[in-house]
Amino acid sequence: MTASPIFQQRIAKSETRVVKIVFPGNTNNLDTLFGGTALQWMDEVAAIASMRFTRQQTVTVSLDRTDFKRPIPAGNFVELVARVIDVGRTSMKVQVDIFIEPMDQDTREKAITGVFTFVTINAQREPVPVEWDKPLVVS
Ligand SMILES: CC(C)(COP(=O)(O)OP(=O)(O)OC[C@H]1O[C@@H](n2cnc3c(N)ncnc32)[C@H](O)[C@@H]1OP(=O)(O)O)[C@@H](O)C(=O)NCCC(=O)NCCS
Repeated sequence: MTASPIFQQRIAKSETRVVKIVFPGNTNNLDTLFGGTALQWMDEVAAIASMRFTRQQTVTVSLDRTDFKRPIPAGNFVELVARVIDVGRTSMKVQVDIFIEPMDQDTREKAITGVFTFVTINAQREPVPVEWDKPLVVS
């Protein structure tokens, strides 16, 4: 990846964090977060990070790998953190980590990690180059 200051700033500014609580409607028969729901949440947060990075429309083209390291029991908070980790010509990779944060403790532990690939598209839904060198307007 390039060491360009704008590039690094765009990665930092596009990092996206979402906190959720695991309700019973999000769980499987073991009363832990359903994997399909976790993937949906991860795809959404990763998509936002990719579009904040480029300020262009992106679509998911691939889930490279996702590791479910810890079960997440209902009632816990989870924090999803998405960050661009690599940029190609028209595609980019976004890593998403899910941390478990018990409601009654000041601790957190990584439970799920995955890498998603997004492609930047135009109005005709064709791949177009990722534009990361636009000036960053910080407010
Ligand atoms: C994403 C899409 C526009 C790409 O079109 P395409 O003709 O396959 O594009 P290309 O072959 O030119 O590849 C474009 C880029 O995607 C990458 N790519 C394509 N398929 C990939 C895959 N399975 N895994 C990882 N990267 C992939 C290519 O390496 C290329 O990256 P680069 O330009 O950075 O080198 C098209 O596949 C599509 O519309 N897919 C459906 C997307 C969708 O509906 N997602 C769910 C809703 S968001």
